[in-house]
Amino acid sequence: MTLQTKHDKDDGLMTQQRGQWGTRLGFIMAAAGSAVGLGNIWKFPYMTGENGGGAFLVIYMVCIVVFGFSLVMAELVLGRMAQKTPVAAFREIAGRRWSPVGGLAVLTAFVIDSFYVVVAGWTLAYIGFEASGALATTNSETLSATFNDLIGSPIQPILYAGAFTIACAAVVIGGVGSGIERASKLLMPVLFVLLVALVVRAVTLPGAAEGLEFFFVPDFSKVTGETLTAAIGQAFFSLSLGMAAMVTYGSYIPRERNLPADAFAVVSLDTLIAVLAGCMVLPAMFAAGLSPGDGGAGATFLVLPAVFDAMPGGALFGVAFFSLLAVAALTSAVSLLEAVVCYLFDEYGLSRAKATIGSSVALFLLAIPSSLSFGLLAGAKLFGMSFFDLLDYVTSSIALPLGGLLTALCMGWVVGPRAAQALSPAGRSAPRWAAFWLFVLRFVAPLGIGWILVQGLIG
Ligand code: PFF
Repeated sequence: MTLQTKHDKDDGLMTQQRGQWGTRLGFIMAAAGSAVGLGNIWKFPYMTGENGGGAFLVIYMVCIVVFGFSLVMAELVLGRMAQKTPVAAFREIAGRRWSPVGGLAVLTAFVIDSFYVVVAGWTLAYIGFEASGALATTNSETLSATFNDLIGSPIQPILYAGAFTIACAAVVIGGVGSGIERASKLLMPVLFVLLVALVVRAVTLPGAAEGLEFFFVPDFSKVTGETLTAAIGQAFFSLSLGMAAMVTYGSYIPRERNLPADAFAVVSLDTLIAVLAGCMVLPAMFAAGLSPGDGGAGATFLVLPAVFDAMPGGALFGVAFFSLLAVAALTSAVSLLEAVVCYLFDEYGLSRAKATIGSSVALFLLAIPSSLSFGLLAGAKLFGMSFFDLLDYVTSSIALPLGGLLTALCMGWVVGPRAAQALSPAGRSAPRWAAFWLFVLRFVAPLGIGWILVQGLIG
């Protein structure tokens, strides 16, 4: 991966010398690094558990195929056309009145990052717990006491979130190109292999079959307006959509590259990993005698240690797994922070170091009440939700789909045929199916996403 971005000042004008992805694989791994993260391994299994299992999976898949794939292409192509970060990209390609869509994306990225680092902090703590043998049990009460002690404590999880934030800031200050890309190219495949091994172990645990049935056999009587918003929000969260990350990454794709094929690879990888994580966590929950909605945001942390404990060399697996999960979270969190930093740089001319440090301090401050909402502030509810859940709900279920809807309208109606043309490598005509893609962006996505948003709001 030879991605480099260098920013120079000439004649008082800010100009950017942009880098480009060195290889096709490099881009796919970096975009997949942003997409694959806690959303797949931590959030997807418990959302599926809480929202009716198989029916949620089916709706999620429909959201990915109908809206997700079209929007990943739309964001990437916008970035490639503009060669700019989101606010400037919307402004230059679609006109000034669309730049607030980029602004919404950056704000959403910032808020998501603030609660993302809290969960990423838990993964750091779990590396230590696995190494020290504190989790060497299959007793679900002991495991849930360990988890609840951690997240409910006033200091420890905040320190872990702080450590994670510092790691992210260090990467972003240094530039995304060097270490992180090379590391994720190497480590993501390792995470994948480990995931497959854990799925094999989980599905062969006694009682696991019921979990698979829950995951794969849909029962549509459980579907409500909330299931729909949860599924679309999760699809967008998982694909890093509606948050400017894909626009930024698209801006580094060279003109000669076949963009739709790359987008397809990223979407497929992300979905495959979410489904594998479901096959790991849900059967393990049934095997442990838990019901799928139990544990909420803690589900993954509650059942995986028991799966490790039931394997030879379990602690080693545990340390490796949580370390790789932390790396997956880091590659995602870096893309969130990068979106905010690039915005501050491009729009206000702040230096990379100042922008990174300033935004990291601000997001850490916002992470504190999120973390405390599992302990000291657990009783404080806003709109019936804890602070953490509220931020998650407002960003995932409202801001992301809304950002996606506006992006679809903008790319479908305003940019239109120019966007279709830009899907192809330079000098070639638009792909034949581009008319269908535009139809989805103009009608299917806005109406579908709009309908889902309304369903969610009226319950
Ligand atoms: N897609 C990441 C995940 O599933 O964990 C989270 C994320 C990263 C969302 C980057 C948005 C983003 F811009």
